Amino acid sequence: MASTATRPIVPPADLESFQAHLNRSTRILALLGAGLSASSGLPTFRGAGGLWRTHDAVQLATPSAFSRDPGLVWQFYSYRRHMALQAKPNPAHYALAELAKRKEGFMTLSQNVDGLSPRAGHPASTLKLLHGSLFDVKCSDFFCSYSETANYTDPIVPALQIPTDESDPTTTSALQARELDISDSNVLLPELAIRDLPRCPNCKKGLLRPGVVWFGEMLPTAVLNDIDRWITESNTIDLIIVIGTSARVYPAAGYVDLARSKGARVAVVNVDRDDEPASGMYQGDWFFEGDAAQIVPEILKSVIGEITEMPDAAEER
Ligand SMILES: *[C@@H]1O[C@H](CO)[C@@H](O)[C@H](O)[C@H]1NC(C)=O
Ligand SMILES: [Zn+2]
Repeated sequence: MASTATRPIVPPADLESFQAHLNRSTRILALLGAGLSASSGLPTFRGAGGLWRTHDAVQLATPSAFSRDPGLVWQFYSYRRHMALQAKPNPAHYALAELAKRKEGFMTLSQNVDGLSPRAGHPASTLKLLHGSLFDVKCSDFFCSYSETANYTDPIVPALQIPTDESDPTTTSALQARELDISDSNVLLPELAIRDLPRCPNCKKGLLRPGVVWFGEMLPTAVLNDIDRWITESNTIDLIIVIGTSARVYPAAGYVDLARSKGARVAVVNVDRDDEPASGMYQGDWFFEGDAAQIVPEILKSVIGEITEMPDAAEER
């Protein structure tokens, strides 16, 4: 803490030029990735850890894994939901939510499924979740369109309680520490009966599934259409802010190029100085190197003021 107090995180000249541009910008895009949630303490997808160390997360996040073994896939997602609920939105989530309330022409595209932006009160109409959410559920039956959002019930059904072995205390903190740090090869996942998994209340037939985009699936059409509509609504975009995601890979790189083609200046917030956009940095762009939780509230301050209140929508459950 002392070191951050003596050394400004953001060079004052950059801060000044960025804020001057932010203040006069009317069409702003933000593109969010995992780095935004890193200082909320969320383990990354591939490093899910704990119980799941011996499973390949990529293999579980597919439609065919779900049809083969819905119990196992639900256990994995129940764990990820639980971990995401242990985490709290950080000041960057709140700062972006506040910017969305104050700047009418601000649109946010997020690759995160952790629910932290919605919990921070980011208005849903200006938050497009490219990869869905751990807290959406939808019917897995092709002919049924049932879906719900913001379901923070944990576990979602009793059978999906995170298993613990008998020798261990079951307090949340012990459980969490164990899941994060200690090999759980002695904990066996219980076999789940299909009847114990969440069932669609609409068709009463299909299993519910997590509302995330799995490998091999298309990004949600309605979300892509909303983004398209916003982008084509005007010939200009003033600014794109890329936070905690590699601006070199799809879809981030594509949106950066698209925004640039409409005149946008690019601001990158990333801990890794090498995560520059594929097209490079142009004169007039900004690279803010460091933790999003510290940098984002600071660079947005000229519009949003100080972030003080931090209500958490998941706590009302
Ligand atoms: C979440 O989904 C489960 C399973 O369908 C359901 O029992 C529960 O009531 C839902 N929670 C909320 C808050 O809607
Ligand atoms: Zn259904």
